[in-house]
Amino acid sequence: MKKVKNIPFIDLSLKKIDLDKTISNISRLIKDKNFIGGDEVKKFQNNFSKFNESKYCLGVANGTDALEIALESLDIPKNSEVIVPNFTFLSPAEAVVRGGYKLVLADINLDDFTISIESLQKLINKKTSALIVVHLFGNPCDMLEIKKITDKYGIKIIEDCSQAHGAKFKGKIVGNYGDIGTFSFYPTKNLGAFGDSGAIVTNKKTLYEKAQKIANHGRVATYDHLLPGRNSRLDSIQASVLNFKIQNLEKHNKLRIKQASLLVKAIQSSNIETLKLTPDQFSVFHQFPILSKKRKSLMTFLEKKGINCGIYYPKPLSKMKAFSNIKSISKVHSKNSEIACNEILSLPIGPHLNIKDTEYIANAIQSFSN
Ligand SMILES: Cc1ncc(COP(=O)(O)O)c(C=O)c1O
Repeated sequence: MKKVKNIPFIDLSLKKIDLDKTISNISRLIKDKNFIGGDEVKKFQNNFSKFNESKYCLGVANGTDALEIALESLDIPKNSEVIVPNFTFLSPAEAVVRGGYKLVLADINLDDFTISIESLQKLINKKTSALIVVHLFGNPCDMLEIKKITDKYGIKIIEDCSQAHGAKFKGKIVGNYGDIGTFSFYPTKNLGAFGDSGAIVTNKKTLYEKAQKIANHGRVATYDHLLPGRNSRLDSIQASVLNFKIQNLEKHNKLRIKQASLLVKAIQSSNIETLKLTPDQFSVFHQFPILSKKRKSLMTFLEKKGINCGIYYPKPLSKMKAFSNIKSISKVHSKNSEIACNEILSLPIGPHLNIKDTEYIANAIQSFSN
């Protein structure tokens, strides 16, 4: 019987040469008993602020902490309203609720799955203090339109760039439009560690210094603590992995872009919907989502061809139990978020695939729709 191809949705295995180098870096840290802080962390913060063209970068324990610390650094009034897109991984909403702010959920666009400007405009009122935008699936939000609105009303912006390492809007790297940008380096991200880690970037010194204190027990010197903070430090081992892997980030992003352009071409000639990005949006395609009313049968068809897909996300935040007792959810704008949850399917994309794999996926999509 003919062997069916197997294209995994994600594959985190390393080439032997990269694995050997990583293990030798980690062994060196263990021999030197260098576990917290130190040169690897400093080096990564430097590397990442250069990569992201941001003045400051602070390594933290994960992307969710990055959001919580970013919000706390902004010093916005407790109980004020913070707007978050209804269709995203839930961390931005968790950060809002855990920080003691009111969660307000906005709808998204179906062209790029980022926050809808129209919905955002309708939700802003006197109590709105901040907005968390998410550059979802690697697609940058329209930061110029968003800035016009937030500048008008004096609203702070956090950019959640956890899925968008290197994405640009109008040539400027995400994380530099708002007050603060946050990143996750969860292993599956475009830049992923071998465990949990994250970062905060900003161009504002005061925000950087505040975040730095919060993430390290409010400490300014040994046993000199200025505020009750927390422990959310990037550890040396993860920093050394990230210092090694960041060298390939641009190369891998370029590969994703090439794969995405092949997929877009194939899908345009089918009856399936996919991303419609503007020339201002430079996506790094953390994921490649399509929309199909026949998602279940398409997924089964692709699985039979050995193509493994994922559903991100099956539920809008407004339908999650975690947020069911949040009053402000009555303000939810949900139409497109619901459509996305019902129809979205993410195709395999990333450095674990070669161009032949992507051509195979593109052909499979075309044969389904014919
Ligand atoms: C958009 C977004 N924000 C925040 C996070 C949270 O990151 P972490 O898992 O590192 O806490 C993720 C992780 O999946 C994410 O995709």
